[in-house]
Amino acid sequence: MTALAQEVGAVNVSQGFPDFNPPEALVSAVSQAMIDGFNQYAPMPGLLSLREVVASKYHHLLSCHVDPETEVTITPGGTAAIFTALAALVGPGDRVMIFDPAYDSYAPSVITLGGTVVRLPLNAPSYLPDWQRVKEMITPDTKAVIINNPHNPSGAVWSADDVATLGAICDNVGCYVIADEVYDLITFEKPHVSVLSEPLLRNRSFVISSFGKLIHATGWKVGACVASAELTKEFRKVHQFINFSVNTPAQQGLATFLQSLQSLTDLAPFLNKKRMILEESLHGSLWKRRVCYGTYFQLIDYADFWDGTDVDLARLLTTKYGVATIPLSPFTNDEQRDTALRVCFAKQDHIIRLAGERLAQASLELGSQKV
Ligand SMILES: Cc1ncc(COP(=O)(O)O)c(C=O)c1O
Repeated sequence: MTALAQEVGAVNVSQGFPDFNPPEALVSAVSQAMIDGFNQYAPMPGLLSLREVVASKYHHLLSCHVDPETEVTITPGGTAAIFTALAALVGPGDRVMIFDPAYDSYAPSVITLGGTVVRLPLNAPSYLPDWQRVKEMITPDTKAVIINNPHNPSGAVWSADDVATLGAICDNVGCYVIADEVYDLITFEKPHVSVLSEPLLRNRSFVISSFGKLIHATGWKVGACVASAELTKEFRKVHQFINFSVNTPAQQGLATFLQSLQSLTDLAPFLNKKRMILEESLHGSLWKRRVCYGTYFQLIDYADFWDGTDVDLARLLTTKYGVATIPLSPFTNDEQRDTALRVCFAKQDHIIRLAGERLAQASLELGSQKV
């Protein structure tokens, strides 16, 4: 969609990352780190100062206690952390459950390691797991389940009950959890509940986070994995030989900049304003906004004015109406059909407004043709 958007000069709200820079003070802190000589390999688990920031984030913002020395490893982004955790757990023939629609690295990572992917659909509009089905499908042969909460692309956020239910199921069969929580601090109206706060999951989970998502610097590829000391040992055995260590000046700059946690506290209100701009600009159109409790993605439902496929609609919106969105079907592996497109609202305010206006106009035109 981005290639097409560039070809036709469309406003692009398809790509899942900000179109604005990280804070200047952070960029300066990273530059200063280079000037100050932070240019050689960092320690394998990550700079302790940054691991302390991670622990402090969990303690102060998510009410979980984490030991920075033994339970936090800095990784080259969330995707690498997910692969590393899987490599620490999964061998040929092991079953790993994922929920569709899923971030696109999960299944290929499991397959690369010789595992077998077991897929369970998350159904619209809530995109929460059907716990009865999960219970039936997680067997003693299931080595791990990968969850993504808050969820890309739906914006669903699990309740404490959801997390506790997963805990009871996994504890019953001895299944591990890889919890992709890269949007953990981006929630609206519903708080994020980390698996680290659930006693039944605390010692059987690898929790993945990404500074790219939290500080508008996805291209820096710095993330973290938090797990019990025992699981962290296993994680680091793999991390040491896949990644060894992570960009030192970025780690040092992040540690300096994030010490007060202020910018992390400001993140959700900052993005909520953008969510509201999108809502306002779609007002009066034929799109139906789905509930978005978290992430910077908004699903918008086209059922009232379009009968074709999501891919065809997304193409038409890009080429004819000058606004690029993301169809959902590429996120899933089966025929399940939703009637929504994904909009990323981590964009400059005027871009969101323009995209919303174009989307609104398109819905009205297509709606009138449908009648
Ligand atoms: C659900 C989810 N997990 C992981 C990632 C990747 O994080 P990173 O860029 O730190 O590898 C993304 C990025 O879009 C994502 O949406």
